[in-house]
Amino acid sequence: MSYGSIAFELSDDGITLITIRRPEKLNALDVATVGELDDALSRAASDGSTRGLLLSGAGDKAFVAGADIRELAALDAAGCREFSLRGQRTFRKLETMGKPSVAAIHGYALGGGLELAMCCTFRVAAPEAKLGLPEVKLGIIPGYGGTQRLPRLVGRSRALGMLLTGEPVGAEEALRIGLVDHVAPRAELTEFCRALLRKMLANAPVAVALAMEAVDIGLNAGVEEGLRAEAAAFGLAAATEDRAEGMRAFLEKRPAVFRGK
Ligand code: COA
Repeated sequence: MSYGSIAFELSDDGITLITIRRPEKLNALDVATVGELDDALSRAASDGSTRGLLLSGAGDKAFVAGADIRELAALDAAGCREFSLRGQRTFRKLETMGKPSVAAIHGYALGGGLELAMCCTFRVAAPEAKLGLPEVKLGIIPGYGGTQRLPRLVGRSRALGMLLTGEPVGAEEALRIGLVDHVAPRAELTEFCRALLRKMLANAPVAVALAMEAVDIGLNAGVEEGLRAEAAAFGLAAATEDRAEGMRAFLEKRPAVFRGK
């Protein structure tokens, strides 16, 4: 598939940069863009060279200012449900692909933009970023996972505060409540995110994926099932060549060389 509204760039360090590229519409996610994003995420998931993902928005003003309101306005109830389900499937792919991802947030991350960022493993915001779920101002609610992921990140009351007022929070407030993990100057945002990813990519890839999966299962199912998933993943990690290498390297007092096997 060739892309018109996104860019897909793999670099030598194993980081794939996916940029949403509709700056004249503040990178609003129309159906075509979500389709391209879906294809790009499948590609990143199956491509052995991609070990981590960096998501960003083109232009100076926005990461992503939400789903495309012009398109949404033309949909009936069944169309809106389908729109929501399709986007949820795409976003969930990002969350569950077993490769760490970071959203580099500058400017607006609203509605579907914040929902996309919340599917990333980590979020880093520039100081002037504005993050929010303003859907109730339009007479709708978030449809790409916002009602589920925001309370898991910031707690019920803070999530409801954002969901019911529709008001955005700034970067410092987002950091305080745990909605973003770091704040970095705009000029250093991309490099900060890459450095954060590189710290994870230095580790055993299968172990990283298994840790992400155990957290995902436990958060969604509860502690008992999460603990069973953790034990199963612990066993799986123990069967990898990287486990033997990691432990041998420790005992030999040298850096480990992981191969993802
Ligand atoms: N869907 C479709 N188009 C959007 C959009 C969205 N979510 N967000 C911005 N745009 C478009 C605007 O319509 C405008 O297009 P135009 O030049 O053809 O009129 C262009 O992007 C620039 O936006 P504009 O509103 O002029 O910029 P601004 O700096 O004055 O305001 C925002 C920025 C983010 C406050 C404002 O664009 C906004 O409120 N956007 C919608 C946010 C939202 O509700 N998101 C959730 C959607 S479910």
